[in-house]
Amino acid sequence: MYTGMLHTHSAAWIIMIILFLVSYFVPKQKVTKMILRLFYLIMIFSGGYMFFSGSYTGVYHVKITCAIIVIGMMEMILARQKKGKSTLPFWIIFGVLLVVVVLIGYGVIAF
Ligand code: HEM
Repeated sequence: MYTGMLHTHSAAWIIMIILFLVSYFVPKQKVTKMILRLFYLIMIFSGGYMFFSGSYTGVYHVKITCAIIVIGMMEMILARQKKGKSTLPFWIIFGVLLVVVVLIGYGVIAF
């Protein structure tokens, strides 16, 4: 079960990012936004399962916090784009924290 969750988690994050980019760059449709939200749940569920069934150190608390903010930033960017407001600051936070999350996920950042 754990291995399945890990595979799901590591495949789903790339699909999630692609869905987010398609949602942003092809705004005149809602399908990818809906599937994107399903992928948020898949990420949170598979990550949460691994987290609660393993013994993860403090760096994973940072990862989860950053991951939740990353998801929040994607939602903010899509919502603000719809209203015609600026999205640049949110893109910066999204980009920086996504790198942090992935580097912690693959064990590059560890403490
Ligand atoms: C923006 C959302 C997220 C991204 C981009 C992301 C990315 C990643 C990546 C790339 C890995 C490494 C996978 C591998 O080793 O093949 C990973 C592992 C992990 N993630 Fe996430 N994640 C996200 C959200 C979450 C959430 C919300 C949780 C917890 C609720 C979580 C918990 C974990 C755990 C526990 C691992 C460790 C698996 C292991 O190597 O033992 N992640 N994540």
